[in-house]
Amino acid sequence: MGIEQLESEEIDAILRLARRFQRARPRPLFKEKRVALLFYEASTRTRISFEFAAKVLGATTTIVHATASSVEKGESLIDTGLTIRALGAQVIIIRHPSSGAPLVLARHVDVPVINAGDGMHEHPSQALLDAFTILQHRKTLRGLRVAIVGDIYHSRVARSEVYLLSRYGAKIALCGPPELAPDSAATLASGVQVTRNIGEALRGADVVMVLRIQKERLAGKQISLEQYIAQYQVTPERLRLAQRDAILMHPGPIIRGMELTGELADSPQSVVLEQVANGVPVRMAILARALQIRV
Ligand code: CP
Repeated sequence: MGIEQLESEEIDAILRLARRFQRARPRPLFKEKRVALLFYEASTRTRISFEFAAKVLGATTTIVHATASSVEKGESLIDTGLTIRALGAQVIIIRHPSSGAPLVLARHVDVPVINAGDGMHEHPSQALLDAFTILQHRKTLRGLRVAIVGDIYHSRVARSEVYLLSRYGAKIALCGPPELAPDSAATLASGVQVTRNIGEALRGADVVMVLRIQKERLAGKQISLEQYIAQYQVTPERLRLAQRDAILMHPGPIIRGMELTGELADSPQSVVLEQVANGVPVRMAILARALQIRV
């Protein structure tokens, strides 16, 4: 249900298979497979790339949105999952605002459930496609210096990145104000440090990963966005502290002028659209493994 539980052999197998899918012409490997996307939260990149991944390989797909389905009439997650299963779905991809929802669903349906982001818990497919993207620019994750700047606390992406990159030997600096990057985040994994100083985080970094400030989850937190921009926005001047060939990543959606400047988002160092594009082969590989398709 997350990177934390995923065996390293499985991560390696997904990344290897994604490389094959990226190079090869698509074949109808998923012919007669039915893939359901159950999205209780908004999504552009994850939903479309899972859908394209399934369709390119010949699957039939359906998208269930919480706002345009019987979920709106009060149907529970479990009943919705059982209904989708009874209709013939052979895999369910779920995004949900509650941490643990994919696990709950998986306990009640007899088909694989893929976590497309659950609350503040994990976003495993994002971490996998980000590792895939980094490895297109660097030979190895081992010893890599990664700075993650922004709203760490509310970020399922940050959690999955930390679990995956630290397992492969990357050194991670988490950076933000205490409300968004609490000291306790350093205990997520070994090789992780928390700093309030963006210069310290970025200096010598090979990878700079910027996260969105999740305004929708800030309720009750005393955050001045002006102060955040002044202290933590990733700007061209600040990025110059990183390695000359450092790559700039962002899982999206980007809020230009907030967590980073628009100029940087469009700069040659930015691999943001590569990340988006890599979502398709990586999610093809995730689906193929879940459906136990021989490739
Ligand atoms: N990175 C990501 O999860 O983007 P979406 O919310 O658009 O799927």
